[in-house]
Amino acid sequence: MSISFAEAQDLPHQKPEIVTVNTETPRSSFYIQTKDEVKSGVSSINSQHVLDLNGEWKFQFYNSEVDIPSNFNSPHFNFSAWGNITVPSNWEMEGHGIPIYKNVGFAFKGNGQMPDPAYNPSAIYHKEITPNTSWDGKDIYLRFEGVAGGVYVYVNGKEVGYSEGSKTAAEFNVTEYLNVGETNQLTLKVVKYTSGSYLEDQDFWRLAGIERDVYLWAAQPSHIKDLNIISSLKNKYKDGDLNIEITLSKPNSSKLKWELLENGKIIKSKTIAQVNKTILKVNETIKSVKKWSAETSNLYDLVIYNGEEAVKTKVGFRTVEIKDHTLQVNGQYLLVKGVNLHDHHMTRGHTVTREDYLEDFAIMKAHNINAIRCSHYPKPSFFYELCDSLGFYVVDEANIEAHGFGNDSQYYHPDTTKSLGYLPLWEKQHMERTIRMYERDKNHPSVIIWSLGNENGNGQNFYKTYDWLKENDKTRPVQSESANHFTNTDISAPMYNIAQSGLDYVRDFDKEPRFQRPYIQCEYAHAMGNSVGDLKEYWDIYRAHKILQGGFIWDWVDQGILTKNEKGEEFFAYGGDLRASRYPNDENFCANGLVNADRKIKPSLLEVKKVYQNINFTLSENKLMVNNEYSFLATTNYTLKYQLKENGRVVDEKKMKLPRIQPMSEKSVTLQQFAIDNEEEQFLYVAVYNEKNELVGEEEFLIQEKKYVSQLSDAKADVEMLNNEVILKSNTTQWIFSKTSGYMVAWMKEGKNILQRPFKPTFWRAPLDNDLGFQIYDTLGVWKKANDFQKLLSFEVNSSSGKITALFDVGVAKVNMIYQMDDQGLLRITMDLFDITTNNHIPRVGINYAIDEKFNQVEFYGKGPHENYWDRKTSAMMGIYQLNVSDFDFEYIRPQENGARADVRYVKFTNGHSIYGEQPFLFTTHHSVLGDYQDGPKKGQRHSTDIIKRPLTDITIDHLQMGVGGDYSWGAWPIPKYLIKPQDYSFSIELK
Ligand code: GAL
Ligand code: MG
Repeated sequence: MSISFAEAQDLPHQKPEIVTVNTETPRSSFYIQTKDEVKSGVSSINSQHVLDLNGEWKFQFYNSEVDIPSNFNSPHFNFSAWGNITVPSNWEMEGHGIPIYKNVGFAFKGNGQMPDPAYNPSAIYHKEITPNTSWDGKDIYLRFEGVAGGVYVYVNGKEVGYSEGSKTAAEFNVTEYLNVGETNQLTLKVVKYTSGSYLEDQDFWRLAGIERDVYLWAAQPSHIKDLNIISSLKNKYKDGDLNIEITLSKPNSSKLKWELLENGKIIKSKTIAQVNKTILKVNETIKSVKKWSAETSNLYDLVIYNGEEAVKTKVGFRTVEIKDHTLQVNGQYLLVKGVNLHDHHMTRGHTVTREDYLEDFAIMKAHNINAIRCSHYPKPSFFYELCDSLGFYVVDEANIEAHGFGNDSQYYHPDTTKSLGYLPLWEKQHMERTIRMYERDKNHPSVIIWSLGNENGNGQNFYKTYDWLKENDKTRPVQSESANHFTNTDISAPMYNIAQSGLDYVRDFDKEPRFQRPYIQCEYAHAMGNSVGDLKEYWDIYRAHKILQGGFIWDWVDQGILTKNEKGEEFFAYGGDLRASRYPNDENFCANGLVNADRKIKPSLLEVKKVYQNINFTLSENKLMVNNEYSFLATTNYTLKYQLKENGRVVDEKKMKLPRIQPMSEKSVTLQQFAIDNEEEQFLYVAVYNEKNELVGEEEFLIQEKKYVSQLSDAKADVEMLNNEVILKSNTTQWIFSKTSGYMVAWMKEGKNILQRPFKPTFWRAPLDNDLGFQIYDTLGVWKKANDFQKLLSFEVNSSSGKITALFDVGVAKVNMIYQMDDQGLLRITMDLFDITTNNHIPRVGINYAIDEKFNQVEFYGKGPHENYWDRKTSAMMGIYQLNVSDFDFEYIRPQENGARADVRYVKFTNGHSIYGEQPFLFTTHHSVLGDYQDGPKKGQRHSTDIIKRPLTDITIDHLQMGVGGDYSWGAWPIPKYLIKPQDYSFSIELK
């Protein structure tokens, strides 16, 4: 059986102007329970008033909407042959249909208003439900917290209604359809694409199904329908100002009662006098209230009694204002140290649980993140409950992104005759998505800003949603990236402005009112792959100008999907994997997280922790200035620890109680002098711990530099000339060079050659996602040639000095490799780069070689322990670290350069190979070689499992390697100070 396209046009999901049919007015999220349940603390889902419908459902998937049998909603339909699916879930993650990842643009065919039914994956869900007879006489509602796609609801064969707009709740009154105490047939038809999908063009996996909780609930006919709680502050932000508006489904003759509790103790309790009304109001002052903020997430319990029924909800007292051109909470300035969060789980897709969030939130807190932007749609209700109780500032964003039609704030200008934000036909879609978000989430103190959506044409529909929010919520600002150049945003929320643009913004303050709004980037520091360079540079500027209040890093988690290759090895799939290669896809652009899909911490997150830290330091002489950047916490019972490190080793350590420093202020602390009576390298390391003994700030300062001293002795090694080879010889060691290639071909140690690959000048790295963004093969490709094609011009041996000089032509430059050995077997290699004929920056200037794989344990003195690069190393402290070679690997979802450690003074492999630098160097080692991590100019759909582990230990000593960059990954270079200018370089290392 099938329906024709013409007939299909009449279905609600094909009509932009229809968003819902027969749904209830949206309301704030709360549960009705019995009085006793509330008193004894029964969880809401276990209430007698609730019937949980999560779990097994009968399920049938159809590749196309037109394949659905027309009698599926008949009460006599036989479902017995069908399989099951666990709800909530995305059906693609359960093996039905193909997960498609797209950044911009639609994953379906359509005519601009309706997706083609012939390609519209769909499914029927079926469940038998038996509401208890205790629900007799009650109103019964069916609530979906989120269904991706459009959902048609049928009870006992009767059509109940329809809803789309996958990321907010939809509620149906099913009282008349259900037979209490009997078995009822609940059947759902879910279509993946609806006309509303044109507003869901977010950069994520396009997945469908009942992806959030579903349940029935019942309440007496006159029940609490909605709560609007405005809990702000008054009297100089001292007292709480509690305003509650209770909406009843029907007027009630009995009186309602409310209680406010603090830690389980009633601190206020009153009866509400108004009766026979549907709207009841409460206004109360709470003296010296405990305020809510992300740092002090104090909450109260509010219980409202309505006869035998009760509702319990949390209340947090706080204000949000824009004052003096800054965003303020509770009258206090703050810095937004944010991340963007997509709902993503490595096996469940968009279905995330409370536990998933708890894991993320614990990691975020530990890394000084205080704010989350709900990119790009509202989250499940429990997300906000957790943010309220744990303390995060939240930007709640309406589920509206029509990116495929253009964006008014970007260079991708929308056609105003097509872009949905401009079209009256689409007004309702915009309004409903905004109103549903607002109504559901309005009572959460954590929500401090509403966002109109992401990447849209800023047409009239967005002025309307803005005006509606301003009219209905006087307590929060509204932001919209697409409105940055216009009037319908209270915050300037650009994306991917470079650090420097902040200064332009400050400079333009007087030019136009739009430069007088607080500036908080809605997205910045694109964390794709090995990225997040120059984060400190952003924050140096933000910290210097109050109007620049921070931003939200893009983004929290790699949207990788756990899968296996033919050999059964696990890896994270991205766009184009999982049988989707023939569909439009945007490869690994879905993987821009600070954590991997399994929440493994990326090195970049450690840099975020450091740059976002709330306690910061400056040192002059022995005075340490300690700056407290918290908005609300004073440094009460904080400890300062400071250490003197000599050549990486702690030689002295002192501890003291940190004086009490008020929020947003600083104090200087006098440190005891350490006796420094030698010429060794000295660092001062300082760290502050809070009362829970958590590290809240650290820094290191170079106190005394050490002069480099060559260890090469005057007694030279012997030189032996053969026909094609030259040998440098000491008692223990021999180095054999080829006169024809100019490279060292063997390194004999105790009679065995340990050299696997010769020492070679190296100029190239396995391109990062950011490198491919600025087309490194085109822009800097000459240095790849220099890396790969090196022609020996001359090979000189000076027998009396024991020096070998190999001169290479590398195309755009010349290189001298100078080798020298003393009689103890110490080798000195100098690399000189000169005669450069290109203006192109150099990716790296270093020496690469490989030795036997048995050299697999390393001790190094430098910045560590985690991976760090020139522009991302403020979090890595100088020290002596021991690691296995394999510990240097960081498995980025798409293989690329990784594993470096900066500012290294020396490296010692435990079984007898050491490297000393004349200057600090960047050290990288792997059991794989550069080529293993590299795709070529076109990405090759490669994964961590494609990296070959070779029987060798590859080593690169970089004099310089350009920064990793990361302002954005579609064209931004590392900032100029982290680029390597094409000019002469010379450096030396000594090896044993
Ligand atoms: C932004 C967008 C995000 C994401 C990011 C690139 O334009 O808002 O959703 O696509 O770029 O990773
Ligand atoms: Mg987009």
